[in-house]
Amino acid sequence: MPRYPDAMPTSRRLFERGRRVMPGGNTRTTVFIDPFPIYAARGEGCRVWDVDGNAYYDCINNFTAMIHGYGHPNVTAAVIDQMAHGTAFGAPTRSEIELAELLVERLPSVQQIRFANSGTEGVMMAIKAARAFTERPKIVKIEGAYHGSYDFAEVSLDSSPTNWGDMPASTPYARGTPRSVLDNVIAVPFNDIEALRAVFAAHGDTIAGVLIDPMPNRAGLIPARKDYLEAMIEIAHAAGALVIFDEVISFRLGHSGAQGLWGISPDLTALGKIIGGGFPIGAVGGRAEVMAVFDPTRGKPALPHAGTFTANPVTMCAGLAAMQALTPESFAHLDHLGSLLREGITGSLDLHRLAGRCVGLGSLLKVHFTALPVTDYRSVYPGPAERERLDAFHKGLLNRGVLSASYGLFALSTAMTEDDARAILGAIDETLGEISGNSDHGLVARSGAADVTAGSPKNAMDDN
Ligand SMILES: Cc1ncc(COP(=O)(O)O)c(C=O)c1O
Repeated sequence: MPRYPDAMPTSRRLFERGRRVMPGGNTRTTVFIDPFPIYAARGEGCRVWDVDGNAYYDCINNFTAMIHGYGHPNVTAAVIDQMAHGTAFGAPTRSEIELAELLVERLPSVQQIRFANSGTEGVMMAIKAARAFTERPKIVKIEGAYHGSYDFAEVSLDSSPTNWGDMPASTPYARGTPRSVLDNVIAVPFNDIEALRAVFAAHGDTIAGVLIDPMPNRAGLIPARKDYLEAMIEIAHAAGALVIFDEVISFRLGHSGAQGLWGISPDLTALGKIIGGGFPIGAVGGRAEVMAVFDPTRGKPALPHAGTFTANPVTMCAGLAAMQALTPESFAHLDHLGSLLREGITGSLDLHRLAGRCVGLGSLLKVHFTALPVTDYRSVYPGPAERERLDAFHKGLLNRGVLSASYGLFALSTAMTEDDARAILGAIDETLGEISGNSDHGLVARSGAADVTAGSPKNAMDDN
């Protein structure tokens, strides 16, 4: 069994080399692991290999973007074909119309759509569109919810007991955030209709929109209640404000995303991640009347929008191929794998008598090491003991050939089989056993998932 960090000498060397030219040795805060991150060499199907030749089941899939894992043949063929014809032009292409048509067909609330290069940009354009449409400055967002790196979307992202206040305070995420940004973002507690009513009663005529991820990952990966979302639409509309769904992650929950599962029609939807087939992408879509803020056909639009690589045909072709391959059967498969893992992890936590919960829906799941009810950002805010446990869980899984997010998130791919899921569950059970100081791997025996060695992470290493 490879042990992090000693079994990763090449990653260590790359980290030292990278540090000379990049703060932190790479370009993403989210992939840093203490003392150094594992550098990836290649991916195939549901597995990735690091630069030292260690293999892992990929349960993070580039932070949820790679819904088909690596090397889906249709995506690869579409990209190779497009490469031969040119990768980006100073002119629109047919490919963006094709991806737009597919997304408009899948999302009944989206009549028109525009592309961007990241989820951050998709959310930013959605916020700016709400401001341009309503001619109002403020947005309302859920405390602790992550929506990318736009200043306004970052407010309250890492509020802590020292600064979050009774009603959520508008706290800065980055040092130097202008006061004007904080003044124009109101944080609210999740799933709390009365708090939303109170905010609108006080500020309704200055609010452009409410931004919500229907299952906010960093705020716990707990689904929003349907009655909360219905009330949100009613309260916002009564004040002349819009509702923006951030489905950058939750679009992987089903054919029409979370809004399809919940049966809710937001005014605007931000997308990203899976719709790019593994290439950089973002998007904002919504009611035609609102999306008209982008329309340049009658002079300068209310919201001009450009971007040198926006809607580049490589991303568009990859996205189209990936989305076409996401059939009702693939969603059923992902749901099945997700349920198997959630139930297995819950059983394993019980078996090892560890205080913890596994939450989520479909292909997304998250482990919280707490015995208390998990309801919102504050309820899952980890203290030092939980942080330590999460770190031990993450590194224990790395040592058993499973790559997950350091904060307990798992995102599955269509490339995984049921055998893969059972092998992952075996590794999780072993890790939880190790954490609890209990080496009894009874979950596997109890669930009847006897032969986890067949597709186990250890065999994955041997494949290398
Ligand atoms: C809900 C949500 N919104 C927006 C973003 C930003 O997307 P990107 O990283 O592509 O900028 C993310 C990224 O993880 C996200 O999870």
